[in-house]
Amino acid sequence: MRAIIPVAGIGTRLRPHTYSIPKVLLNVAGKPILAHILDKIFREGITEASIIVGYMGEQIREFVSSAYPGFNVEYIEQDETLGLGHAIYLARHSMTTDPVLIILGDTIFDVDLAPVLEGPYSSLGVKTVDDPRRFGVAELRDGFISRLVEKPETPISNLAIVGLYYIRSPRLLIESLNAMIDGGIKTRGEFQLTDALQMMIEKGEKMTVFPVEGWYDCGKPETLLGTNRALLEKESRIPVLDGVVIIPPAYVAGTATLERCVIGPNTTVADHAIIQDSVIRNSIIGAKAQVLKAILDNSIVGPDAVVRGTHRRINVGDSSEVEFS
Ligand code: UTP
Repeated sequence: MRAIIPVAGIGTRLRPHTYSIPKVLLNVAGKPILAHILDKIFREGITEASIIVGYMGEQIREFVSSAYPGFNVEYIEQDETLGLGHAIYLARHSMTTDPVLIILGDTIFDVDLAPVLEGPYSSLGVKTVDDPRRFGVAELRDGFISRLVEKPETPISNLAIVGLYYIRSPRLLIESLNAMIDGGIKTRGEFQLTDALQMMIEKGEKMTVFPVEGWYDCGKPETLLGTNRALLEKESRIPVLDGVVIIPPAYVAGTATLERCVIGPNTTVADHAIIQDSVIRNSIIGAKAQVLKAILDNSIVGPDAVVRGTHRRINVGDSSEVEFS
């Protein structure tokens, strides 16, 4: 089976990091977002992928071809980010009559795909959310999707589409994408995949949903840090180093240099980072970054960045109270 992975987006919500690195190559819990996705689908037996690249696509090509030589990857250029529907439309030539799995490049998921991929119907990954207005939303009737709406103002259900789509009728998907593009049908200024899927339903495609409890969004700084925390809880890497205290969960790369510091919990330190005389928690420190004499919480330090702080010196007497803000 072929996976279709759109990664052409600009990642504006993760600036300034995405000024120099595409979102899907940002490190979370010890490896790039895209690596989590490729490792997962590889384990599910999927080794063919169409990756839709655009913004800083060259970096993505280089990463995938060097880190995943075993993957049979076709790269497709999206010159203008006209929307997810448009990105998938550009991959139409790589689709045959075989089912495909579409995965958003910035969504890490932990779900057993085997029953989905063996199922008789197209099926979309969903999660129950409190506020569905930020998502594509699915309404169900008799176990099948009766309606899909992208970011509804008045929610039709609280089942959010999480970015994992198993499509059994690629031909019908292509037909619907064609109709959407030719008809200039946009929602909120973009060609939406949700709208094309809704067209498929109207043309008689039977679509079900499957629950994705392990859904880790990486679109914004807070969600990137939340995902870092959640993934580290499942898998930590904690070396024993002299003069360093590491509070789990954490990931500290073997090539990082740490001296006189306290790291964690919920902290990733990527390859070749240098950390000295610092306390860091709930944070991601990128490759080759330096953090010196600093106290950091809920922070993202990009690759090669340098953070230099100061430790205050105080001389506090009995029964004093000192507060720094
Ligand atoms: P997002 O909606 O999160 O957009 O796309 P984005 O550009 O990545 O991030 P923001 O909103 O500017 O912060 C979800 C996924 O779909 C891809 C993105 O690369 C991301 O993996 N996408 C989106 C495309 O490939 N092309 C598009 O035209 C739109």
